[in-house]
Amino acid sequence: MTDDRSSLSALAGQRVEYGSRGGAAAGTDPFALFTQWFREAQDEIGEANAMLLATAAADGPDARIVLLKGFAPAGFTFFTNYGSAKGRQIAADPRVALVFPWHGMHRQVRVQGIAERTSAAESDAYFAQRPRGAQIGARASRQSQPVASREAMQEAYDRVAAEFADTAVPRPAEWGGYRVAVHRIEFWQGQANRFHDRFAYTAVQGPAALDEAGDWTLTRLDP
Ligand SMILES: Cc1cc2nc3c(=O)[nH]c(=O)nc-3n(C[C@H](O)[C@H](O)[C@H](O)COP(=O)(O)O)c2cc1C
Repeated sequence: MTDDRSSLSALAGQRVEYGSRGGAAAGTDPFALFTQWFREAQDEIGEANAMLLATAAADGPDARIVLLKGFAPAGFTFFTNYGSAKGRQIAADPRVALVFPWHGMHRQVRVQGIAERTSAAESDAYFAQRPRGAQIGARASRQSQPVASREAMQEAYDRVAAEFADTAVPRPAEWGGYRVAVHRIEFWQGQANRFHDRFAYTAVQGPAALDEAGDWTLTRLDP
């Protein structure tokens, strides 16, 4: 207990001063701002494309990290198993949130939007460029289902590897992409004295292309 308490008080006293990057500038086009921040994050931190994906589950909100595999004015794309917990949750309620936790750069981007499956052709194209081992793993895993042991997982992997020993590994039907069409995106830049910059873009009429200036209302928020 004593140890817990002293480490907790040390935690309470830990402070990173923000503001060294200066103020954030927001234009009318959230896609341009995201593109600039994403490029800077790729230069400065590892796996800048790792983002939190929050879903609405029947028993409350759920969240996990997934990798951003593409972004365009139409939205943000990631790939997963449609039968996973997140896949089932999205099927029941496609409203999701994304968070890019670039706190090493004193930055955060938050997104609210609607997840839609990518086309089969798009999922095929991405699956085909994955390393063969990851393709086998995707076929061998019933993501988020209970599995008896590591050995049972390995047997499933070996079975798939043997089945497609001489051919390309086809994309399983239950594996594919989602694109999150955005209706709100917020950029947060840490500043001195915890007096941060926050810029929220809200789509005027439902999710819109991120580069359509007139479709977005820009609001500065108190920190
Ligand atoms: C850095 C990192 C990247 C990940 N990328 C993905 C991904 O792109 N797709 C995916 O399905 N799971 C990814 N995962 C695993 C998920 O966090 C999660 O464990 C898995 O998708 C099952 O989630 P679910 O049971 O909520 O569906 C990643 C985990 C980490 C830590």
